[in-house]
Amino acid sequence: MAVTINTLREYKQKGEAFSALTSYDATFAQIVSEAGVDVILIGDSLGMVLQGNDSTLPVTMDEIVYHTSCVAKGNRGSLIMADMPFMSYGTVEAALENAAELMRAGAHMVKLEGTDWMKDTIEALSERGVPVCAHLGLTPQFVNKFGGYKVQGRDEKAAELMIEHACELVEAGADVILLECVPAPLAARITQAVRAPVIGIGAGADTDGQVLVVHDMLGLTTGRKPRFVKNFLAETDSVQNAIKAYVEQVRNRTFPAEEHTFKA
Ligand code: KIV
Ligand code: NA
Repeated sequence: MAVTINTLREYKQKGEAFSALTSYDATFAQIVSEAGVDVILIGDSLGMVLQGNDSTLPVTMDEIVYHTSCVAKGNRGSLIMADMPFMSYGTVEAALENAAELMRAGAHMVKLEGTDWMKDTIEALSERGVPVCAHLGLTPQFVNKFGGYKVQGRDEKAAELMIEHACELVEAGADVILLECVPAPLAARITQAVRAPVIGIGAGADTDGQVLVVHDMLGLTTGRKPRFVKNFLAETDSVQNAIKAYVEQVRNRTFPAEEHTFKA
């Protein structure tokens, strides 16, 4: 049966961890979906892993639409989430128009990076039938404001603010929260605080779901390896089995382990 937003809500209610992975093409989408990954993300990480840029900022709407349409053809029942690229949701009007394009291309949900300023946008999308994932914490589109890729929410004031923002965005209509690079105790507090399913990357083992960039978890990404990445291909014999191992280890909460987690 196809994964829907209701499936993710049920996982949260039952306390069952679910998995998500990026894909950018039909072949990977089919492998990822058939391995039992619940959510496929067409991440703007494609700007780095496919295009070779040093940030996600150059990615355009046309590019995400193209990759979403490729993924939709390979998908075998996972929930398809598409990233809205940098400045494609700068105004509510732009967000509506651009989200519609992604939904037409085959997305079931769109993901936006930001904080409380997104409330009106999320409300407008939600009211018009577009499910939204709100991405908080280390939001890579803000790299130039952050001055680098840094763990977010480390002091108590920033932590409280992130909890507040997550609650407000769910109140505005966000169906899923995604937390990137936040201390595990903070991610656990946010997961408790909101009724929406929470997906984490570098956010510890207590979120409702986990996500990774597929190139990272296959050990293909060159350069510095972030703390939260594990190479699943190293302990298996094929891409298919590596992805199945990821699904299994997320489900039984052996991934992420301490070594992949930011404590504070
Ligand atoms: O673009 C992406 O792949 C993402 C994940 C890292 C969450 O946003
Ligand atoms: Na992204």
